[in-house]
Amino acid sequence: MSSKMWGGRFGEGTGALMEAYSESVSYDRRMYRQDVAGSKAHARMLAKRGVLASDEAERIVAGLDQVLDEIEVGAFPWRVEFEDVHMNVEQRLTELIGPLGGKLHTGRSRNDQVALDFRLYVAESLETWARLACDLIGVFVKRAEEHKATLLPGCTHLQPAQPVSLAQHLLAYAWMLKRDCERMDDALRRVKVSPLGAAALAGTTYPLDPGMVARSVGFSHAFANSMDAVSDRDFVLEALFCASVVMAHLSRFCEEIILWANPRFGYVALPDAYATGSSIMPQKKNPDAAELMRGRVGRVYGDLVSLLTVVKGLPLTYNRDLQEDKEPFFDADDTVRASLRVMAGMLGELAFRPERMREALAQGFLNATELADYLAARGVPFREAHHITGRAVAYAEAAGKPLEQLTLEELRVFFPAMDQDVFEALRYETAVARRNGPGGTGPESVTTQMAELLKWLQKR
Ligand code: ARG
Repeated sequence: MSSKMWGGRFGEGTGALMEAYSESVSYDRRMYRQDVAGSKAHARMLAKRGVLASDEAERIVAGLDQVLDEIEVGAFPWRVEFEDVHMNVEQRLTELIGPLGGKLHTGRSRNDQVALDFRLYVAESLETWARLACDLIGVFVKRAEEHKATLLPGCTHLQPAQPVSLAQHLLAYAWMLKRDCERMDDALRRVKVSPLGAAALAGTTYPLDPGMVARSVGFSHAFANSMDAVSDRDFVLEALFCASVVMAHLSRFCEEIILWANPRFGYVALPDAYATGSSIMPQKKNPDAAELMRGRVGRVYGDLVSLLTVVKGLPLTYNRDLQEDKEPFFDADDTVRASLRVMAGMLGELAFRPERMREALAQGFLNATELADYLAARGVPFREAHHITGRAVAYAEAAGKPLEQLTLEELRVFFPAMDQDVFEALRYETAVARRNGPGGTGPESVTTQMAELLKWLQKR
């Protein structure tokens, strides 16, 4: 006869190949804390509802605590023949407290059990990601504070466009990460719904109290439909989407760090701790941390697409395919946690080079818009002002000079009413300082943004 927990109807044991193919304990043991917590909540609820005697529930809870201890000190006998974390825990419980351990699974199926464990796990991950994202927002705001007066070329199409403050540029990422946190908070509302009580798929005949289990594991409420409860994996998909977007955001900044660290830009010097050398070219200092992070986005997108594909076309309710939800999530979880931490460390130590940014500013006619605005303020229709400025830029380019180094006489060739005050308008600092409208790159706007972000961080 089969020795499996579910082996009553089986004449023979599982083949070795099949055992290796189907086991999940090698990775789902990561959910041991959640499995024990869910089982304790279930046992207590069974006692409350009179399905178990209260001393039985107490002995089960004590046994589960002992299991937890064994796992935490590394003394737990994980066994592949018991397939997954759930059956390993239950088996050990029964070894510790005797046949009473077998009563724990009353009114429960692994289908609702695994859904609860995984929801608990995903909820903790989302909370951790949001916390780490907040830490990173704090670093962005701190570096922005230091660089309110540092100007660099803002780009569109990766071409120099208009001067911006480095603070404004960095705060753009802080706002992206704030949205990421809010997205995670929102996803959490749908993760924190307990499926326990759905049993295999149809609910149970026992007088369970699913709401009590939900509250005791810190969730807001219990499932509304048992078939949905055991087969829904939207909560994982949403978390993987949150992971994908935050990784996309990180990868955009990675790309900028990589560009900025190139000597042609030279806007940043990489901290030694986050760069590596070349085994053949002694002069090299490579932005490996940023490159790896940019590359790892691919894994996280893959994790999302992988689970979307698993779920597609699955008939109700639980199907073993759903066991394939865990590895993609664990992979994304590891990647997001590590990436947020590495980025916070790297950004904290990045040495910005304001003088190199300043040199770049003077090379790209980034004050051309200012000249057009100057003319428009003197009554020239903007389209014409744009045209006049274009001619002045062509002239300056041929002369190998930035606009601000043309003489007033040279400028007057293009617009006779040009005055000495044009040079004030052409200053890069002026261009930035004048953009104090809401959300603009001007210093007042930047100060307001930082205050808003800090206030938001404090409230969390
Ligand atoms: N290890 C399984 C999983 O992760 C647990 C649920 C198994 N349920 C079943 N009916 N075989 O999906």
